[in-house]
Amino acid sequence: MTDRVELFSSTYRHFTDPVSDAVRKETFGADIGQNSWLTVDEYERLLPWLDLSPDDHVLEVASGSGGPALYVAHATGCRVTGIDANESAVAVASQAAARTGASERVRFRLADATSRLPFDDESFDGLLCMDAMNHFPQRLAVFREWRRVLRPARRALFTDPVVITGPVTNDELARRSSIGLFLFVPSGVNERLIEEAGLRLVRQEDVTENAALIAGRWRRARQAHEKDLRRIEGGERFEGLQVFFEAVRVLTSERRLSRIAYVVEKPAA
Ligand SMILES: C[S@@+](CC[C@H](N)C(=O)[O-])C[C@H]1O[C@@H](n2cnc3c(N)ncnc32)[C@H](O)[C@@H]1O
Repeated sequence: MTDRVELFSSTYRHFTDPVSDAVRKETFGADIGQNSWLTVDEYERLLPWLDLSPDDHVLEVASGSGGPALYVAHATGCRVTGIDANESAVAVASQAAARTGASERVRFRLADATSRLPFDDESFDGLLCMDAMNHFPQRLAVFREWRRVLRPARRALFTDPVVITGPVTNDELARRSSIGLFLFVPSGVNERLIEEAGLRLVRQEDVTENAALIAGRWRRARQAHEKDLRRIEGGERFEGLQVFFEAVRVLTSERRLSRIAYVVEKPAA
């Protein structure tokens, strides 16, 4: 049995610690405050799929540290609202928006993505959800909420980093999900639920390679900063997370779990 090593609260509590900055820089190269398998190259390639213009208002579901939302606002000129269920994440994100003078255009609030979203129907021109769908067990209900808050003919971009595409043992699944709540679905399930929620699948792309690359780098960067990380995380968490990152690297590089990016559209009215 693999023990749980809570990831998110501790990560966001220590997000601005110099050792966290150093690990992110060594892992991602361009550090935009991501806490996922997302790189800037990848975001620059995927974001245009939403066809955003500066007047648009984007919802980011599971916005984490807020760094990616600030990046989107800067890159597109859009207003961005981010929601996350983690209080430390929302606090770090709001501080980052204030620090960069973006608080007017980029806002963050605490909300559970698996409940009714705290927004009126048809409030948003685009929606982003990077590497977080796997933490939402009620996936059909989540898609239905996205359909409700999106304006007609507008799009959502999301990644599912744990689509089952090969044989995986129970121990491997336990290591891969040791950081919190996970929902694993086989290929084809996202596609079916998207249609069932009244959304249209516009395109999908296999983006597994980034997860394999980033997981390996993240583990190595953490190993290089072991002493400082053990000080802020404690030994048990440090070792648990190293096991987690190695599980991600092996399962993605062997394509037994795949990371897929999807673009879905709400039909025109
Ligand atoms: C892997 S991180 C990705 C964060 C961000 N999208 C990024 O790319 O850096 C997953 C995020 O999902 C958030 N999360 C997990 N369950 C959630 C829920 N039910 N509602 C909202 N956010 C949730 C976590 O707090 C965490 O910030």
